[in-house]
Amino acid sequence: MIGLFDSGVGGLSVLRAIVQSGINDDFIYFGDTKNVPYGTKNKEQILSYTREIMQFFVQKGVDCAVMACNTSSALVFEELRREFSDKIKIYPLIQSVAPFFKDEKETIGVMATSATVKSFAYTREIKKLNKEADVIELECQEFVKIVENRLYDKKEAAEYIKSKAEYLKNAGCKKAILGCTHFPYLVPVLSKFAPEIEFIDPAKYLTDVIKEGLKESLGAHLGAKKTFSTFKFYVSSAPEEFKKSGSIFFDIKDDVLLADFAKC
Ligand code: DGL
Repeated sequence: MIGLFDSGVGGLSVLRAIVQSGINDDFIYFGDTKNVPYGTKNKEQILSYTREIMQFFVQKGVDCAVMACNTSSALVFEELRREFSDKIKIYPLIQSVAPFFKDEKETIGVMATSATVKSFAYTREIKKLNKEADVIELECQEFVKIVENRLYDKKEAAEYIKSKAEYLKNAGCKKAILGCTHFPYLVPVLSKFAPEIEFIDPAKYLTDVIKEGLKESLGAHLGAKKTFSTFKFYVSSAPEEFKKSGSIFFDIKDDVLLADFAKC
């Protein structure tokens, strides 16, 4: 069983990429809607939220957890790995994706939450294999609210998105990594303001890494393990809101459930 988590609907963009890649499995998705946004929280808070989610996954029988959230990958992957890797294989976003930029010569833009940008995790991870890499990290925290609350048609939202896209354009970026799983939904708007930039959704790279990992554990049986997928969606508050906002990324057919531990 594969578990994915994020602060809200953003991680559904990762779930969509995994499912579209042909991986069949039982999926369980957790959106921590009570604590969204993660990008304005500190490490201690994020560790406490994500530890609870991982315990929930252990209880549910998850054997592979995808941190479908850049912010928690930036801040607490090492801690979660230490605590849970004997029970669950963990795939973090940034650490899985950065190696794909090892030969990149152009300036790489990264659009991410405040916490991710402050941690410089993208710069750190990319430079591990590409010492000369030129990385510009840009905080775009408000994008999270825009996506969660479906504000993309509002004038102020458009102004804010424009200012961020133009910043990277003026900095000479030709490529920009969407370093927050909420951001892929904004690509049409971003591209309108900066058509010369290729906005990259890193979920496709993460999916490749997961596929490789599954191949190792399942051998030739990848894809044959199951012929269809099942989905369960949990949140820590407001299930109906999640279902509405989430529909931009994923066709949620079943009820979204309030997780037991979140009820208290
Ligand atoms: N979607 C998450 C990320 O990839 C978290 C966004 C937030 O809650 O601030 O960073």
